[in-house]
Amino acid sequence: MNERLENIRQEIIEGAKELSNSKSAYEFRKKFTDSKTGKIGLLMKEMKNIRPEERAGFGKGVNELKEWALDYFAKVEEKIKKAELEKRYESEKIDVTEPSTEIKKGNLHPITQMRNQLIDVFAGMGFEIYEGSEVENDYYNFTALNTPKDHPARDMQDTFYLSPEYLLRTQTSAGQIHVMENKKPPIKILSPGKVFRSDDDATHSPMFTQMEGLVVDEKITLCDLKGMLDVFVKKIYGEGTTTRLRPSYFPFTEPSVEVDCSCFECGGKGCRLCKQTGWIEILGAGIVNKKVLENCGIDSEKYSGLAFGIGIERTAMLKYGINNIKLLFESDLRVLSQIDD
Ligand code: PHE
Repeated sequence: MNERLENIRQEIIEGAKELSNSKSAYEFRKKFTDSKTGKIGLLMKEMKNIRPEERAGFGKGVNELKEWALDYFAKVEEKIKKAELEKRYESEKIDVTEPSTEIKKGNLHPITQMRNQLIDVFAGMGFEIYEGSEVENDYYNFTALNTPKDHPARDMQDTFYLSPEYLLRTQTSAGQIHVMENKKPPIKILSPGKVFRSDDDATHSPMFTQMEGLVVDEKITLCDLKGMLDVFVKKIYGEGTTTRLRPSYFPFTEPSVEVDCSCFECGGKGCRLCKQTGWIEILGAGIVNKKVLENCGIDSEKYSGLAFGIGIERTAMLKYGINNIKLLFESDLRVLSQIDD
């Protein structure tokens, strides 16, 4: 009888040598230890056939074998699991010291960056955004802005007409009229968007982007305009930057001004950027012409307004030192990726 037990023991020892993974180890263990079908389990069932005087010895032997087997399997399985884990660690190993491949990060287009910065500056002063449409009719782009047909000021902007009545807007000022027709003062809007003029050289493009500002309320004066533009130039070009207003002409503002900022390159001493003048022209602005307010049904005795029109490309070109507007439209990543504010 002992021999049978010993054979099973040998069978386990020999069989265990062949085991290569935890699944086969599990199955191998079941072959012996399963209480119903396992070889050791079946020995227990034979008890009743054993002669009574041998039964105790047999039972003890089987129990010892069982205990030894459980212990042995546990050790074998632990060894196999450990080997498997090591193999997995090895295959999933990451060398954290290896140099990584460079991931190229995109950035917003300089015009979009500039637009966002301008919106940030003026939103901080309480302006809301209004986006008008790029196709306008003659009334909104010109007539309502005190520029009736045959007005000489129409020549200031070479217009793309789509029909005698419709055109590609030449200025975001067209949006002023829509806003004032639909909203009562107080009004404080910022209107960014594309505008179109038949104009093409190093600093002009047939399509460019403007940002219109319009404030209408009681007692709005040029001082309010200057105050707001001072904040704008300081935020965009640096704390030391100041503004000055020069008389100018636009049909829809009276008085009209051309706004210069002190040269942020040389601090006003005179350099190539400011053409030795210490000042850089940045935008057109003025006090909204009473006729324009009245065209929109706003009482010009009670209310006054200020308006300004910023060229976004020009603002960006000055800020980032770009000397040809085409560089902003050519999508050359060598240029565009350098500008990431
Ligand atoms: N619309 C003018 C232009 O495009 C700029 C401007 C806007 C001037 C608002 C005065 C007031 O040249």
